[in-house]
Amino acid sequence: MSLTLRTQIGIVGAGPAGLMLAHLLRLEGIASAVIETRSRGHVETRVRAGVLEQATADLLVETGLGDRMRREALVHGGIELRFNGAGHRIDFQDLTGRSIVVYGQQEVVKDLIHARLESGCEIHFNVAAVSIHGFDSAQPRIRFHAGGQPREIACDFIAGCDGFHGICRPSIPAGALAFYERVYPFAWLGILAEAPPASGELIYANHERGFALMSMRTPAITRLYLQCRPDEDLDAWPDRRIWDELGTRFETAAGFRLAEGPIVQKGVTGMRSFVAEPMQSGRLFLAGDAAHIVPPTGAKGMNLAIADVHVLARAFRSFYRTGSEDRLRGYSAACLRRVWRAQHFSWWMTSMLHRVGGDSGFEYRRQLAELEQVTTSRAAATSLAENYTGLPFE
Ligand code: FAD
Ligand code: DHB
Repeated sequence: MSLTLRTQIGIVGAGPAGLMLAHLLRLEGIASAVIETRSRGHVETRVRAGVLEQATADLLVETGLGDRMRREALVHGGIELRFNGAGHRIDFQDLTGRSIVVYGQQEVVKDLIHARLESGCEIHFNVAAVSIHGFDSAQPRIRFHAGGQPREIACDFIAGCDGFHGICRPSIPAGALAFYERVYPFAWLGILAEAPPASGELIYANHERGFALMSMRTPAITRLYLQCRPDEDLDAWPDRRIWDELGTRFETAAGFRLAEGPIVQKGVTGMRSFVAEPMQSGRLFLAGDAAHIVPPTGAKGMNLAIADVHVLARAFRSFYRTGSEDRLRGYSAACLRRVWRAQHFSWWMTSMLHRVGGDSGFEYRRQLAELEQVTTSRAAATSLAENYTGLPFE
Protein backbone atom coordinates (compact mmCIF):
# COMPACT_ATOMS: atom_id res chain seq x y z
CA MET A 1 0.00 0.00 0.00
CA SER A 2 1.46 3.36 -0.93
CA LEU A 3 0.83 6.46 1.14
CA THR A 4 -1.08 9.08 -0.91
CA LEU A 5 -0.58 12.79 -0.44
CA ARG A 6 -3.28 15.05 -1.93
CA THR A 7 -2.35 18.51 -3.27
CA GLN A 8 -3.30 20.94 -6.03
CA ILE A 9 -0.06 21.03 -8.06
CA GLY A 10 2.46 18.17 -8.06
CA ILE A 11 5.90 19.53 -8.95
CA VAL A 12 8.63 17.20 -10.25
CA GLY A 13 12.11 18.70 -9.74
CA ALA A 14 13.60 21.21 -7.27
CA GLY A 15 15.72 23.29 -9.64
CA PRO A 16 15.02 26.98 -10.26
CA ALA A 17 11.80 26.20 -12.21
CA GLY A 18 10.20 23.83 -9.68
CA LEU A 19 11.20 25.83 -6.60
CA MET A 20 10.13 29.18 -8.04
CA LEU A 21 6.79 27.72 -9.16
CA ALA A 22 6.16 26.36 -5.65
CA HIS A 23 7.06 29.78 -4.21
CA LEU A 24 4.75 31.74 -6.56
CA LEU A 25 1.89 29.29 -5.92
CA ARG A 26 2.29 29.55 -2.16
CA LEU A 27 1.98 33.34 -2.41
CA GLU A 28 -1.33 32.76 -4.28
CA GLY A 29 -2.58 30.33 -1.63
CA ILE A 30 -2.29 27.35 -4.02
CA ALA A 31 -0.94 24.13 -2.46
CA SER A 32 1.87 22.18 -4.08
CA ALA A 33 4.16 19.23 -3.36
CA VAL A 34 7.75 19.19 -4.64
CA ILE A 35 9.79 16.03 -5.20
CA GLU A 36 13.49 15.90 -6.09
CA THR A 37 15.74 12.91 -6.77
CA ARG A 38 18.91 14.61 -5.46
CA SER A 39 19.81 15.68 -1.94
CA ARG A 40 19.36 19.23 -0.64
CA GLY A 41 23.15 19.55 -0.39
CA HIS A 42 23.56 18.53 -4.02
CA VAL A 43 21.09 21.03 -5.48
CA GLU A 44 22.40 23.84 -3.27
CA THR A 45 26.00 23.40 -4.40
CA ARG A 46 25.53 22.60 -8.11
CA VAL A 47 27.52 25.30 -9.96
CA ARG A 48 25.64 26.47 -13.04
CA ALA A 49 24.35 29.79 -14.35
CA GLY A 50 25.25 33.12 -12.83
CA VAL A 51 23.50 35.98 -14.62
CA LEU A 52 19.97 37.16 -13.80
CA GLU A 53 18.08 39.35 -16.23
CA GLN A 54 16.63 42.42 -14.60
CA ALA A 55 13.09 40.95 -14.74
CA THR A 56 14.26 37.79 -12.93
CA ALA A 57 15.99 39.82 -10.23
CA ASP A 58 12.91 42.08 -9.92
CA LEU A 59 10.65 39.04 -9.49
CA LEU A 60 12.86 37.72 -6.68
CA VAL A 61 12.63 41.08 -4.92
CA GLU A 62 8.86 41.47 -5.48
CA THR A 63 8.17 38.01 -4.05
CA GLY A 64 10.19 38.55 -0.87
CA LEU A 65 13.40 36.76 -1.91
CA GLY A 66 15.60 39.79 -2.48
CA ASP A 67 17.29 40.37 0.89
CA ARG A 68 20.48 38.35 0.44
CA MET A 69 20.63 39.07 -3.29
CA ARG A 70 20.52 42.82 -2.61
CA ARG A 71 23.39 42.47 -0.15
CA GLU A 72 25.59 40.04 -2.06
CA ALA A 73 24.80 40.26 -5.78
CA LEU A 74 26.76 42.41 -8.21
CA VAL A 75 24.78 44.73 -10.50
CA HIS A 76 26.43 45.18 -13.91
CA GLY A 77 25.56 47.92 -16.39
CA GLY A 78 27.33 46.30 -19.35
CA ILE A 79 29.65 43.62 -20.74
CA GLU A 80 32.87 43.62 -22.73
CA LEU A 81 33.34 41.96 -26.12
CA ARG A 82 37.02 41.24 -26.74
CA PHE A 83 38.55 40.43 -30.14
CA ASN A 84 41.70 41.26 -32.10
CA GLY A 85 43.48 41.97 -28.80
CA ALA A 86 41.17 44.79 -27.69
CA GLY A 87 38.08 45.17 -25.51
CA HIS A 88 34.86 46.98 -26.49
CA ARG A 89 32.19 47.77 -23.89
CA ILE A 90 28.48 47.30 -24.58
CA ASP A 91 26.80 49.77 -22.22
CA PHE A 92 23.44 48.21 -21.30
CA GLN A 93 22.42 51.11 -19.08
CA ASP A 94 22.98 53.68 -21.79
CA LEU A 95 21.44 51.58 -24.56
CA THR A 96 18.40 50.15 -22.74
CA GLY A 97 18.21 51.68 -19.26
CA ARG A 98 18.45 48.12 -17.90
CA SER A 99 21.12 46.13 -16.02
CA ILE A 100 21.93 42.51 -15.21
CA VAL A 101 22.54 40.98 -11.81
CA VAL A 102 25.41 38.55 -11.17
CA TYR A 103 24.17 36.06 -8.55
CA GLY A 104 24.83 32.31 -8.76
CA GLN A 105 22.03 29.92 -9.60
CA GLN A 106 22.80 27.93 -6.47
CA GLU A 107 22.28 31.08 -4.38
CA VAL A 108 18.80 31.52 -5.94
CA VAL A 109 18.11 27.85 -5.22
CA LYS A 110 19.29 28.22 -1.59
CA ASP A 111 17.05 31.28 -1.08
CA LEU A 112 14.03 29.45 -2.56
CA ILE A 113 14.58 26.33 -0.43
CA HIS A 114 15.03 28.45 2.69
CA ALA A 115 11.81 30.40 1.99
CA ARG A 116 9.78 27.24 1.41
CA LEU A 117 11.00 25.46 4.52
CA GLU A 118 10.52 28.65 6.62
CA SER A 119 6.89 28.79 5.50
CA GLY A 120 6.36 25.30 6.91
CA CYS A 121 6.09 23.57 3.51
CA GLU A 122 8.10 20.48 2.62
CA ILE A 123 10.40 19.48 -0.22
CA HIS A 124 10.80 15.72 -0.68
CA PHE A 125 14.51 15.30 -1.45
CA ASN A 126 16.27 12.00 -2.27
CA VAL A 127 13.22 10.37 -3.84
CA ALA A 128 13.63 7.51 -6.35
CA ALA A 129 11.69 5.64 -9.06
CA VAL A 130 9.61 8.67 -10.07
CA SER A 131 6.81 8.12 -12.59
CA ILE A 132 3.78 10.19 -13.66
CA HIS A 133 0.33 8.85 -14.56
CA GLY A 134 -3.15 9.92 -15.64
CA PHE A 135 -2.28 13.41 -16.86
CA ASP A 136 -4.73 12.85 -19.74
CA SER A 137 -7.46 12.58 -17.07
CA ALA A 138 -8.72 14.80 -14.23
CA GLN A 139 -6.78 12.70 -11.69
CA PRO A 140 -3.06 12.90 -12.37
CA ARG A 141 -0.75 10.95 -10.07
CA ILE A 142 2.97 11.07 -9.31
CA ARG A 143 4.47 7.86 -7.92
CA PHE A 144 7.89 7.58 -6.27
CA HIS A 145 9.81 5.93 -3.50
CA ALA A 146 10.92 7.82 -0.38
CA GLY A 147 13.08 6.07 2.20
CA GLY A 148 12.44 2.83 0.30
CA GLN A 149 8.64 3.16 0.71
CA PRO A 150 6.23 3.64 -2.23
CA ARG A 151 4.47 7.03 -2.15
CA GLU A 152 1.93 8.77 -4.36
CA ILE A 153 0.88 12.36 -4.96
CA ALA A 154 -2.69 12.87 -6.20
CA CYS A 155 -3.03 16.33 -7.73
CA ASP A 156 -5.06 18.49 -10.14
CA PHE A 157 -2.06 19.22 -12.39
CA ILE A 158 1.57 18.09 -12.75
CA ALA A 159 4.40 20.57 -13.39
CA GLY A 160 7.31 18.84 -15.12
CA CYS A 161 10.28 20.90 -13.87
CA ASP A 162 12.75 18.01 -13.92
CA GLY A 163 15.32 19.39 -16.36
CA PHE A 164 16.49 18.08 -19.73
CA HIS A 165 17.20 14.53 -18.48
CA GLY A 166 14.02 14.21 -16.40
CA ILE A 167 11.17 11.74 -16.86
CA CYS A 168 8.24 14.09 -17.52
CA ARG A 169 8.89 14.97 -21.18
CA PRO A 170 9.60 11.32 -22.15
CA SER A 171 6.34 10.28 -20.42
CA ILE A 172 4.32 12.16 -23.04
CA PRO A 173 3.07 9.75 -25.75
CA ALA A 174 5.23 9.59 -28.88
CA GLY A 175 4.00 11.91 -31.58
CA ALA A 176 2.26 14.36 -29.23
CA LEU A 177 5.25 16.75 -29.19
CA ALA A 178 7.51 18.10 -31.91
CA PHE A 179 11.23 18.48 -31.11
CA TYR A 180 13.55 21.05 -32.66
CA GLU A 181 17.23 20.54 -31.95
CA ARG A 182 20.78 21.56 -32.82
CA VAL A 183 23.87 20.11 -31.15
CA TYR A 184 27.08 22.17 -31.38
CA PRO A 185 30.48 20.62 -32.15
CA PHE A 186 32.08 22.26 -29.10
CA ALA A 187 31.61 22.58 -25.32
CA TRP A 188 32.71 24.77 -22.42
CA LEU A 189 35.29 23.84 -19.82
CA GLY A 190 34.19 25.86 -16.78
CA ILE A 191 36.12 26.60 -13.60
CA LEU A 192 35.43 28.38 -10.35
CA ALA A 193 38.58 29.97 -8.91
CA GLU A 194 39.41 31.69 -5.64
CA ALA A 195 40.77 34.74 -7.42
CA PRO A 196 39.38 38.26 -7.76
CA PRO A 197 37.81 38.99 -11.17
CA ALA A 198 40.35 40.84 -13.33
CA SER A 199 37.67 43.20 -14.59
CA GLY A 200 34.50 44.69 -13.09
CA GLU A 201 32.26 43.25 -15.83
CA LEU A 202 31.93 40.01 -17.84
CA ILE A 203 34.30 39.57 -20.80
CA TYR A 204 33.24 37.51 -23.84
CA ALA A 205 36.39 36.85 -25.92
CA ASN A 206 36.64 35.61 -29.50
CA HIS A 207 40.24 34.44 -29.96
CA GLU A 208 41.72 32.49 -32.85
CA ARG A 209 42.24 29.57 -30.43
CA GLY A 210 38.59 29.63 -29.37
CA PHE A 211 36.01 31.35 -27.19
CA ALA A 212 36.62 32.33 -23.55
CA LEU A 213 34.38 33.98 -20.95
CA MET A 214 35.29 35.67 -17.70
CA SER A 215 32.45 35.93 -15.22
CA MET A 216 32.36 36.05 -11.44
CA ARG A 217 30.37 35.18 -8.35
CA THR A 218 31.77 37.58 -5.73
CA PRO A 219 34.60 40.14 -5.61
CA ALA A 220 36.84 37.20 -4.55
CA ILE A 221 35.56 34.38 -6.83
CA THR A 222 36.00 34.26 -10.61
CA ARG A 223 34.02 31.98 -12.93
CA LEU A 224 35.83 31.28 -16.20
CA TYR A 225 34.97 29.24 -19.27
CA LEU A 226 36.94 28.21 -22.33
CA GLN A 227 35.73 26.56 -25.51
CA CYS A 228 36.79 22.89 -25.72
CA ARG A 229 35.75 19.67 -27.47
CA PRO A 230 32.45 18.03 -26.36
CA ASP A 231 34.41 14.89 -25.33
CA GLU A 232 37.20 16.87 -23.65
CA ASP A 233 39.06 14.86 -20.99
CA LEU A 234 39.37 16.98 -17.83
CA ASP A 235 42.47 14.98 -16.82
CA ALA A 236 44.25 16.54 -19.80
CA TRP A 237 43.65 19.96 -18.22
CA PRO A 238 45.83 20.43 -15.15
CA ASP A 239 45.36 23.86 -13.56
CA ARG A 240 48.50 25.32 -15.16
CA ARG A 241 47.27 24.46 -18.68
CA ILE A 242 43.87 26.05 -17.96
CA TRP A 243 45.40 29.31 -16.73
CA ASP A 244 47.84 29.45 -19.67
CA GLU A 245 45.08 28.86 -22.21
CA LEU A 246 42.81 31.44 -20.56
CA GLY A 247 45.71 33.91 -20.46
CA THR A 248 46.22 33.50 -24.21
CA ARG A 249 42.56 33.84 -25.11
CA PHE A 250 42.05 37.00 -23.05
CA GLU A 251 45.32 38.67 -24.14
CA THR A 252 45.20 42.31 -25.20
CA ALA A 253 47.71 44.65 -26.77
CA ALA A 254 47.52 46.62 -23.51
CA GLY A 255 48.82 43.63 -21.51
CA PHE A 256 45.64 42.37 -19.71
CA ARG A 257 46.35 39.78 -17.00
CA LEU A 258 43.93 37.45 -15.23
CA ALA A 259 44.34 37.09 -11.49
CA GLU A 260 45.05 33.41 -10.76
CA GLY A 261 44.12 31.42 -7.67
CA PRO A 262 43.14 27.90 -6.50
CA ILE A 263 40.62 26.22 -8.82
CA VAL A 264 37.83 24.87 -6.60
CA GLN A 265 35.51 23.39 -9.26
CA LYS A 266 35.95 22.15 -12.86
CA GLY A 267 33.45 20.74 -15.37
CA VAL A 268 32.62 20.36 -19.06
CA THR A 269 29.20 21.50 -20.32
CA GLY A 270 27.92 20.38 -23.73
CA MET A 271 26.06 22.84 -25.92
CA ARG A 272 22.68 22.30 -27.44
CA SER A 273 19.63 24.19 -28.67
CA PHE A 274 16.39 22.26 -28.08
CA VAL A 275 12.67 23.05 -27.96
CA ALA A 276 9.73 20.70 -27.33
CA GLU A 277 6.38 21.97 -28.61
CA PRO A 278 3.84 22.34 -27.17
CA MET A 279 5.01 22.63 -23.56
CA GLN A 280 1.87 20.86 -22.38
CA SER A 281 0.10 17.53 -22.67
CA GLY A 282 -3.29 17.31 -20.95
CA ARG A 283 -2.75 18.18 -17.29
CA LEU A 284 1.06 18.01 -17.52
CA PHE A 285 2.90 21.30 -18.03
CA LEU A 286 6.63 21.34 -18.86
CA ALA A 287 8.75 24.26 -17.64
CA GLY A 288 12.43 25.23 -17.86
CA ASP A 289 15.05 22.81 -19.19
CA ALA A 290 12.44 20.02 -19.32
CA ALA A 291 10.99 21.86 -22.32
CA HIS A 292 13.92 23.74 -23.83
CA ILE A 293 17.71 24.12 -23.73
CA VAL A 294 19.83 26.99 -25.02
CA PRO A 295 23.60 27.04 -25.44
CA PRO A 296 24.93 29.01 -22.45
CA THR A 297 26.39 31.96 -24.43
CA GLY A 298 24.19 34.85 -23.30
CA ALA A 299 23.08 33.24 -20.01
CA LYS A 300 19.43 32.63 -20.85
CA GLY A 301 18.77 29.12 -19.42
CA MET A 302 17.81 29.91 -15.85
CA ASN A 303 16.05 33.14 -16.85
CA LEU A 304 13.82 31.22 -19.26
CA ALA A 305 13.01 28.69 -16.54
CA ILE A 306 11.88 31.49 -14.20
CA ALA A 307 9.89 33.21 -16.98
CA ASP A 308 8.02 29.96 -17.77
CA VAL A 309 6.88 29.38 -14.20
CA HIS A 310 5.86 33.01 -13.84
CA VAL A 311 3.41 32.44 -16.73
CA LEU A 312 2.37 29.05 -15.34
CA ALA A 313 1.68 30.36 -11.82
CA ARG A 314 -0.59 33.07 -13.28
CA ALA A 315 -2.43 30.48 -15.35
CA PHE A 316 -3.03 28.31 -12.25
CA ARG A 317 -4.17 31.38 -10.32
CA SER A 318 -6.68 32.20 -13.05
CA PHE A 319 -7.93 28.59 -13.07
CA TYR A 320 -8.44 28.40 -9.29
CA ARG A 321 -10.04 31.86 -9.09
CA THR A 322 -12.39 31.65 -12.09
CA GLY A 323 -12.52 28.00 -13.15
CA SER A 324 -11.44 29.08 -16.64
CA GLU A 325 -8.75 27.04 -18.38
CA ASP A 326 -8.09 29.72 -21.01
CA ARG A 327 -4.76 30.82 -19.56
CA LEU A 328 -3.63 27.24 -19.05
CA ARG A 329 -4.44 26.57 -22.71
CA GLY A 330 -2.41 29.67 -23.65
CA TYR A 331 0.59 28.70 -21.49
CA SER A 332 2.68 27.04 -24.17
CA ALA A 333 2.19 29.73 -26.82
CA ALA A 334 2.89 32.50 -24.29
CA CYS A 335 6.18 30.87 -23.22
CA LEU A 336 7.33 29.85 -26.69
CA ARG A 337 7.46 33.43 -27.92
CA ARG A 338 10.13 34.24 -25.31
CA VAL A 339 11.79 30.83 -25.74
CA TRP A 340 12.32 31.32 -29.48
CA ARG A 341 13.58 34.88 -28.97
CA ALA A 342 16.16 33.46 -26.52
CA GLN A 343 16.90 30.57 -28.89
CA HIS A 344 17.77 33.00 -31.65
CA PHE A 345 19.85 35.22 -29.36
CA SER A 346 21.80 32.33 -27.78
CA TRP A 347 22.48 30.75 -31.19
CA TRP A 348 23.58 34.16 -32.56
CA MET A 349 25.95 34.90 -29.65
CA THR A 350 27.33 31.35 -29.89
CA SER A 351 27.91 31.64 -33.66
CA MET A 352 29.58 35.03 -33.32
CA LEU A 353 32.06 33.94 -30.65
CA HIS A 354 33.13 30.28 -31.15
CA ARG A 355 35.74 28.73 -33.45
CA VAL A 356 34.37 26.06 -35.77
CA GLY A 357 36.50 23.12 -36.90
CA GLY A 358 37.60 23.07 -40.52
CA ASP A 359 37.15 26.82 -40.96
CA SER A 360 39.20 28.06 -43.91
CA GLY A 361 39.37 31.44 -42.18
CA PHE A 362 36.12 32.68 -43.72
CA GLU A 363 34.07 32.12 -40.56
CA TYR A 364 36.63 33.88 -38.36
CA ARG A 365 36.72 36.92 -40.62
CA ARG A 366 32.93 36.98 -40.82
CA GLN A 367 32.80 36.93 -37.00
CA LEU A 368 35.29 39.79 -36.73
CA ALA A 369 33.19 41.84 -39.17
CA GLU A 370 30.10 41.12 -37.08
CA LEU A 371 31.85 42.01 -33.81
CA GLU A 372 33.15 45.19 -35.42
CA GLN A 373 29.60 46.15 -36.31
CA VAL A 374 28.11 45.23 -32.93
CA THR A 375 30.72 47.37 -31.17
CA THR A 376 30.57 50.40 -33.48
CA SER A 377 26.93 50.65 -34.57
CA ARG A 378 24.59 51.90 -31.86
CA ALA A 379 21.68 50.09 -33.54
CA ALA A 380 23.51 46.74 -33.52
CA ALA A 381 24.75 47.22 -29.94
CA THR A 382 21.21 48.10 -28.81
CA SER A 383 19.87 44.86 -30.24
CA LEU A 384 22.46 42.85 -28.27
CA ALA A 385 21.78 44.86 -25.10
CA GLU A 386 17.99 44.45 -25.36
CA ASN A 387 18.29 40.71 -25.77
CA TYR A 388 20.94 40.25 -23.10
CA THR A 389 19.11 42.24 -20.42
CA GLY A 390 15.87 40.50 -21.46
CA LEU A 391 12.24 41.35 -22.01
CA PRO A 392 10.17 42.50 -19.03
CA PHE A 393 7.79 39.77 -17.75
CA GLU A 394 4.27 40.16 -19.10
P1 FAD B 1 17.31 22.04 -13.49
O1 FAD B 1 18.11 23.09 -12.83
O2 FAD B 1 17.99 21.00 -14.31
O3 FAD B 1 16.44 21.35 -12.35
C1 FAD B 1 15.75 20.14 -12.56
C2 FAD B 1 15.71 19.38 -11.25
O4 FAD B 1 14.96 18.20 -11.41
C3 FAD B 1 17.10 18.94 -10.79
O5 FAD B 1 17.30 19.35 -9.45
C4 FAD B 1 17.09 17.43 -10.95
O6 FAD B 1 17.90 16.78 -9.98
C5 FAD B 1 15.61 17.13 -10.76
N1 FAD B 1 15.15 15.89 -11.38
C6 FAD B 1 15.57 15.29 -12.51
N2 FAD B 1 14.87 14.17 -12.74
C7 FAD B 1 13.99 14.06 -11.74
C8 FAD B 1 12.97 13.11 -11.43
N3 FAD B 1 12.76 12.03 -12.20
N4 FAD B 1 12.23 13.28 -10.32
C9 FAD B 1 12.43 14.36 -9.52
N5 FAD B 1 13.39 15.29 -9.76
C10 FAD B 1 14.15 15.14 -10.85
N6 FAD B 1 22.73 28.44 -17.93
C11 FAD B 1 23.26 29.64 -18.02
O7 FAD B 1 22.52 30.59 -18.29
N7 FAD B 1 24.62 29.82 -17.81
C12 FAD B 1 25.43 28.75 -17.48
O8 FAD B 1 26.62 28.93 -17.28
C13 FAD B 1 24.90 27.48 -17.39
N8 FAD B 1 25.67 26.41 -17.06
C14 FAD B 1 25.09 25.16 -17.01
C15 FAD B 1 25.86 24.03 -16.70
C16 FAD B 1 25.29 22.75 -16.66
C17 FAD B 1 26.16 21.54 -16.33
C18 FAD B 1 23.91 22.60 -16.93
C19 FAD B 1 23.27 21.22 -16.91
C20 FAD B 1 23.15 23.74 -17.21
C21 FAD B 1 23.71 25.01 -17.26
N9 FAD B 1 22.96 26.17 -17.54
C22 FAD B 1 23.52 27.38 -17.62
C23 FAD B 1 21.54 26.12 -17.74
C24 FAD B 1 20.77 26.47 -16.46
O9 FAD B 1 21.50 26.06 -15.35
C25 FAD B 1 19.44 25.79 -16.59
O10 FAD B 1 18.75 26.39 -17.67
C26 FAD B 1 18.59 25.84 -15.32
O11 FAD B 1 19.15 25.03 -14.34
C27 FAD B 1 17.17 25.37 -15.63
O12 FAD B 1 16.45 25.19 -14.45
P2 FAD B 1 15.38 24.03 -14.34
O13 FAD B 1 14.79 24.16 -12.98
O14 FAD B 1 14.49 24.04 -15.51
O15 FAD B 1 16.20 22.67 -14.47
C1 DHB C 1 27.84 32.91 -16.83
C2 DHB C 1 27.39 31.92 -17.65
C3 DHB C 1 27.03 32.23 -18.95
O1 DHB C 1 26.58 31.27 -19.77
C4 DHB C 1 27.12 33.51 -19.43
O2 DHB C 1 26.80 33.77 -20.71
C5 DHB C 1 27.55 34.51 -18.58
C6 DHB C 1 27.90 34.19 -17.28
C7 DHB C 1 28.22 32.57 -15.45
O3 DHB C 1 28.22 31.38 -15.09
O4 DHB C 1 28.55 33.47 -14.68
